[in-house]
Amino acid sequence: MCGIIGISSNKSVSASIINSLKKLEYRGYDSAGIATLSDGEINEVKSEGRVDSLEKNFDLKNLKGNIGIGHVRWATHGVPNSVNAHPHSSYNVSVVHNGIIENSTILKKHLISKGHNFKSQTDTEVIVHLITENLKTSELEDAITKTLKQLHGSFALGIVFKDMPDLIVGARRGSPLAVGYGPNENYLGSDSYALKSMTNKITYLDDGEFCIVKKDQVNFFNDEGKKINKKILELSSDQANYDKGDFKHFMAKEIEEQPNTIKTGIKEYIDNVNKDINIPNFPWKIEDITSITLIGCGTAYHSCLLSKYWFEELTSLDVSIDIASEFRYRKNRFKKDTLYIFVSQSGETADTYAALDLCNKNRMKTCAVVNVIESSIARDSNFVLPIHCGPEIGVASTKAFLGQILILYILSLKLGSLRGDIKKISYQEKIKDLKTLPKLIEKTLLLDNDIQSISSTFNEVKGSMFLGRGFSYPIALEGALKLKELSYIHAEGYPAGEMKHGPLALIEEGMPVVVLAPRDNYYKKTISNMQEVIARGAKVLLITNKSKNEVVSENIWETIEVQDTNDDLLPFLLTIPLQKLAYYSALKKGYDIDKPRNLAKSVTVE
Ligand code: G6P
Repeated sequence: MCGIIGISSNKSVSASIINSLKKLEYRGYDSAGIATLSDGEINEVKSEGRVDSLEKNFDLKNLKGNIGIGHVRWATHGVPNSVNAHPHSSYNVSVVHNGIIENSTILKKHLISKGHNFKSQTDTEVIVHLITENLKTSELEDAITKTLKQLHGSFALGIVFKDMPDLIVGARRGSPLAVGYGPNENYLGSDSYALKSMTNKITYLDDGEFCIVKKDQVNFFNDEGKKINKKILELSSDQANYDKGDFKHFMAKEIEEQPNTIKTGIKEYIDNVNKDINIPNFPWKIEDITSITLIGCGTAYHSCLLSKYWFEELTSLDVSIDIASEFRYRKNRFKKDTLYIFVSQSGETADTYAALDLCNKNRMKTCAVVNVIESSIARDSNFVLPIHCGPEIGVASTKAFLGQILILYILSLKLGSLRGDIKKISYQEKIKDLKTLPKLIEKTLLLDNDIQSISSTFNEVKGSMFLGRGFSYPIALEGALKLKELSYIHAEGYPAGEMKHGPLALIEEGMPVVVLAPRDNYYKKTISNMQEVIARGAKVLLITNKSKNEVVSENIWETIEVQDTNDDLLPFLLTIPLQKLAYYSALKKGYDIDKPRNLAKSVTVE
């Protein structure tokens, strides 16, 4: 999704802006642009496509200026082309923007009546002209305060001014924005990835705040334009994670990193000496929680859905789950004894954040399960359970999914044990089994060759289905999501028992259907459903776990066997072949695996 970078320095900034924009590429975008200030002019360059196109189309080495802003755009208002790309400029103001201005149509009418000319179809351009207008009658701080009050919707902004060539203004409402500090230069960035190669000293703006960034000084202001003080945070350095190493794609690397994701999670949360789960500083009394609501989007929502089965199996808590974009607009019955858990890799997803904000405003107990611990969702939750899987760069989530489900499984075990819902012996056995998981994942990752050859068939078809029951149902949804995200093949995930109620009509000769049938309580039922689709011509790829028992049907097209383990842990293993299936299908099609079309890593708009 859109990304912002701004640099105010004592040396030329265009090369560093390009570098930082490349760091933001993982977010997914369709055009890019830069504006620098030099010799009393705004120098604006922008291009459709990747940052590479910007470099090809313009002589950026000769783009002068010690101050500048850059942007990668994920289109919301107006098609992705060079005119709609950011920055947008008037004769004296240039703006980059993440978010959506909801009252842009009204503002535009008003500005046109005052003689302003618009070049693009974007909502962003109204910000440029509003500031230009307000600067006619007010000094900088007042003009910014006034402009921000006139805007409805969400934004993170970077703004430069022809007549003030020593500063950048940053402002935030709803979309994240950070300031970074370097030697003889300071920065503005829409996330810490953009800034990490230049600094580890960061200040996050809170909603409603703005800042003025100069090369040797940064000042912060609240929504009334009053100066405020903000803390500087030091970020951990994990530079190696930003490199693909020997892998062709970040996604391939991130899939292979999963044993480590689980090892790190176990190290963080399991107390080996006492054979216990350690969740330090849990802020609530266990008897004050009688129900749990889990909320997320996309893959994170699938983590919530899977964990519902664990929470119900291992605890006597009432559990509900919700898609964040639905939760935020429903008439919710907020209950004091409910723990609201927000699951998000980035910690910046706009809908998930809005759902959290709603719960905070209703004084609910809020807990974040996130990967980025400096994120807005982490900062604004009462309690944080970090995933610790390192930066995930591929747009389609892989290792963060395994990280999320690990934390949710650990939490369900701990709450089950504290509430006396599971016996001590079973609790300790489950902890012991959990420690074998990294090795089991390593072995499952070796199924590479089988999945590579199977993936060719998926590329020749119009559509596919993924079926599962119980714990395997959310994994079927995740498998279908991965395939559609990466290889643009229509894929539906369904509870296997639901096929007769409609989806069976879609089955035709040769249609690939992935059936997840581990040898758990649902095995026989799922195998019956599998036979129903085989009878109607489907080509079934059965994914199950190793067993001495033979598989019951002879007409299965292909079988993949993952390692055997206790039923709770099978979802971790079943996920791996599905991630690889999606990866190899997209690879064969030659698609942009780390940045699939139309998608974004961090969805900071509604
Ligand atoms: C985007 C990503 C998905 C991700 C979802 C939620 O759609 O492409 O991979 O699952 O956002 O993101 P979050 O950062 O909240 O987990």
